[in-house]
Amino acid sequence: MNHQREPRNRTYLMCPPQHFTVEYAINPWMDTTVPVDAVLALKQWETLRDMLGSLGHRVHVLDAVAGLPDMVYAANGAFSVDGVVYGARFRHPQRTAEADVHREFYELQGWRYAGPEQINEGEGDFAYLPGAYGGLVLAGYGFRTDPAAHAEAQEVLGRPVVSLRLVDPAFYHLDTAFAALDDRHVTYYPGAFSAASQRVLAQLFPDAVLADRADAEAFGLNLVSDGRHVILNTEATAMGEKLRAAGYLPVHVDLSELKRGGGSVKCAVAELRP
Ligand code: ARG
Repeated sequence: MNHQREPRNRTYLMCPPQHFTVEYAINPWMDTTVPVDAVLALKQWETLRDMLGSLGHRVHVLDAVAGLPDMVYAANGAFSVDGVVYGARFRHPQRTAEADVHREFYELQGWRYAGPEQINEGEGDFAYLPGAYGGLVLAGYGFRTDPAAHAEAQEVLGRPVVSLRLVDPAFYHLDTAFAALDDRHVTYYPGAFSAASQRVLAQLFPDAVLADRADAEAFGLNLVSDGRHVILNTEATAMGEKLRAAGYLPVHVDLSELKRGGGSVKCAVAELRP
């Protein structure tokens, strides 16, 4: 079975790791005793940005802010669907101020922005499948985003939101264990979800590409796909082969420094959906 996978041009938002450090630990990947190579981090980030550009996608860049070392994980700043932005509200005080920087970006661009009441970390815990069931939002909870934010997002966005419970602290955001490959196909690591949520995923996506724990630990699920090209961490070679077997084109980029903060490709890239 080898389909012709069609790419679609995307618009992304990224933020350079100018002030990136690991000076606090809010997920199991962060080790404050191991220094980050700032020069390498920036070089790797630029390679990712240029890669997305060379594939024909538009990349907006948000200026990094001193004192916000996790801002490079731009996916967490908001979640947009069909021109409406559901803003983020971070779980940890160290990241709280990032939400307003994102808000300002969207408001300046003329987006309709809804400020959240509930704690949620943007695309870290929300994914959108425009071609599944008429437009479906998948949402994670258990570590960062409050389940109440799922209902709030549904009210703001007017799309059904399916709640999925994350159970493994190593995979604390939905985007570490689940990814959209195109408008209606997904990949995920079942073990990151509760047994009931695994059943929900199996029912909704019987043809999903299933990943294993090693794929998830290599941050192979933390990917960005345009429907054909799937950008993922260099370490995730086995995951790349699974995607190739499913008809996609894996494109590996080395994001070893961003992994020290507990993130990879997807964490660094927010998709803007006008
Ligand atoms: N250090 C960041 C945090 O723990 C990493 C965020 C990763 N982003 C993501 N979309 N999973 O909040």
